[in-house]
Amino acid sequence: MSDPDPAKLAASRAAIELVRDGMRVGLGTGSTASVMVRELAAKVQAEGLALRCAATSQATADLAESLGLRIESLDQIGWLDLTIDGADEVDPDLNLIKGGGAAHLREKIVAMASDRMVVIADPGKVVEQLGAFHLPVEALAFGFETTRELIRRALEDLGLKGRPILQRLRDGEPVITDEGNYILDLALEAIPDAPALARALSAIPGVVEHGLFLGICHLAIIGRADGSVVEL
Ligand code: 5RP
Repeated sequence: MSDPDPAKLAASRAAIELVRDGMRVGLGTGSTASVMVRELAAKVQAEGLALRCAATSQATADLAESLGLRIESLDQIGWLDLTIDGADEVDPDLNLIKGGGAAHLREKIVAMASDRMVVIADPGKVVEQLGAFHLPVEALAFGFETTRELIRRALEDLGLKGRPILQRLRDGEPVITDEGNYILDLALEAIPDAPALARALSAIPGVVEHGLFLGICHLAIIGRADGSVVEL
C-alpha cells in the first residue's frame, strides 16, 4: 500500500488516541477511515489492547479482519463507546454530509449507537454550509421511480435546486449498497435548512436513509498536511 495521505494520517492518529483498552469501537468507511483502521490495528497489536469492534460496511469489516481486528455485529456488542468515521462535509456546528461511499445507512446506525462519534477529515471537508457535496439518499429498489419523483417534489417544495440522480458504477450498473438498495445523489449546491430537508426526506416511504448527520457528531478532528490537527 502507498504511503497514506498525511492529513488523513494525522487525523487518524489523533482519533485513535481516544481508544482505551476494553472499549467497544465503531469503525467508519472510506479512505480516511481505512487509514484509521490500519493505525488502530497497529496500536492494538503494539499495546495488546482488547477491543470489541463493529464495522459500518463490509469493506471495512474485511479490511479490519485482514489486519487482525475482531469484528462483531452491532447487536452482539449492543452499544459502543466510540465511533470514528470520515465525512464528506463538516459544518461549524458538526453537522455532516456522509455517504460518499454509499455506507451512510450503517454509518448512521453505528454512530447513533455510540456514546461518542468522532469524525476524522482533511481541511477540504470543512464547509460553512452543507450542500456542495452531492447528498446521498439510500432508496429501496421497490417503487424506485416513485421515490425519486417524491424526492423531486420535496426538493421543489423546499425551493431547492437539483434533482435526484441514480448513482451508477463505471460500467453503468446502479450502485447497490450493503443492504441491497440504490443510492440517489442530490446535487443541491447548498442546503440552507438542513433539518427541514432531513425531515422531508425521512417522510418519504421509499427513502431508507439520507446522508445528513445532524446533531450526531461530537467532535471533528481535522488533520493537516503538516501533521498537525485542529479540533472542531
Ligand atoms: C462513506 C462515507 C465516508 O466516510 C465519506 O464518504 C468520506 O470518505 P473519504 O474519507 O474517502 O473521503 O460517508 O459512506
